[in-house]
Amino acid sequence: MDNQTLKDNWQTYCNKPSIWHNKFHLEMPFGLVNDPNGLCVYNGKYQIFYQWNPTGCQHINKHWGYTTTTDFINYSIPQLALAPIDDFDKNGCYSGSARVNNNRLELVYTANLKDANNIRYPRQVLAIKNDDGSFSKKEILVDDVPSGYTTHFRDPYLFKHSNRSFFIIGAKRENLTGCALIYEEVNNAWQLRGELKTDYKDFGYMWECPNFINIDGHDVLIFCPQGIKAQGHKYNNIYQAGYLIGKFNPDTLEFTHGEFQELDHGFDFYAPQVLVNKNRNILIGWIGMPEKESEYPTTNEGWIYSLTMPRELHIKNNIIYQTPVQELNALNKNNETYLNCQDLILNTPCKITLDIDMTDKNYWQGDFEIGGDILKLSFDKNTQEFCVNRDDLSLGGKGKRYFTVSVKEKLHLDIYIDTSVMEIYYQDGEAVATSCYYAKEKLSAIPVKTNIPTSITVSQLNSIEFN
Ligand code: FRU
Repeated sequence: MDNQTLKDNWQTYCNKPSIWHNKFHLEMPFGLVNDPNGLCVYNGKYQIFYQWNPTGCQHINKHWGYTTTTDFINYSIPQLALAPIDDFDKNGCYSGSARVNNNRLELVYTANLKDANNIRYPRQVLAIKNDDGSFSKKEILVDDVPSGYTTHFRDPYLFKHSNRSFFIIGAKRENLTGCALIYEEVNNAWQLRGELKTDYKDFGYMWECPNFINIDGHDVLIFCPQGIKAQGHKYNNIYQAGYLIGKFNPDTLEFTHGEFQELDHGFDFYAPQVLVNKNRNILIGWIGMPEKESEYPTTNEGWIYSLTMPRELHIKNNIIYQTPVQELNALNKNNETYLNCQDLILNTPCKITLDIDMTDKNYWQGDFEIGGDILKLSFDKNTQEFCVNRDDLSLGGKGKRYFTVSVKEKLHLDIYIDTSVMEIYYQDGEAVATSCYYAKEKLSAIPVKTNIPTSITVSQLNSIEFN
């Protein structure tokens, strides 16, 4: 596949009949998409890269796909920016990040190489965007794995702190515990500074996709620990994506921080990356889960996984609040509000806003009929737990996810419903849950019932566009 072919045939690929393709979530018409990569602003445009196997729905042959946007609604036709065709990256151009340095767009990614015995040789590589729009791999920045660590060493994330340039990278120690290492750029060379010192010394066996950012004056580590056991309703997905809020000392690498909190409470969320644009932090996550491919029937249509809506991040009361970037309001076609409503028929794609008065009520339940199956959402005021229940769905992953949201009187929900993805925002972003759902046949409508008469505002949404 080359970029000219992609460009010439894009609309044809997108017009292929599909039951499940989403309308306002970024996804590819074929192949496998996973982590967002290289998020930054360059020449006034948001640069969005992502892991893409354009040749099938397996986790192999990882390229970097590439699109740009100024408004998160109109995207350039996706291209392939990096292909795993060199000796050092033939087993995949794995995740990484980007920055603009002297007006040049620079990408840093993990070149994945495995030998005949499946031993990994990860290298951290610099690539740049050329004037003609193509990308060139320029230089191996880090050629080896530091001693004390295994070859699970990947996903460099570039960041600035105290006017100094760093990247943080995910690692697995030789004692099989996960951590993140910090490199600093000094006189144009990348030097290993050491481990980020956190209180989580034995927290999973590998930390994937670390991000280090500043939100509203707080230093924040976002990372994806693997190997955390479920604890009651916490950590129920195979791998987690969460964060620590604190303060970083770039001289000692000490990070004093609070407790690990999950970023998203749905079934399908992993490997998020944050785009830093001055003081604005915009997070995009992968809607999918490693090692759970069998839960996604879209492979029958030749594609798998999507990216979340871009979300702006703020911190209140030691929690990261996430809300879809305000640019997405332009997707709204019309708004209609139904008062005291208990039954409604929805057409996707849409957003619905519910204001549920729990003053005299202990339990709310919303049933969403997905082609004869029911996706159930509920909230129990006594336990303050919200539940997303997919047990009744015939296709895709099943189970329940519970999480706490603080509600005294009003439960406020903004639910973004795409063809096969639902992103639910609670109490103006205090919690988010992203989950896939699959109708057995092409959905014509979603009948919704709620046990408490409720104000419901429905907005039909437009699709994002590629042009
Ligand atoms: C996370 C991850 C990264 C790796 C990439 C490969 O989902 O496993 O650690 O770089 O995906 O696609």
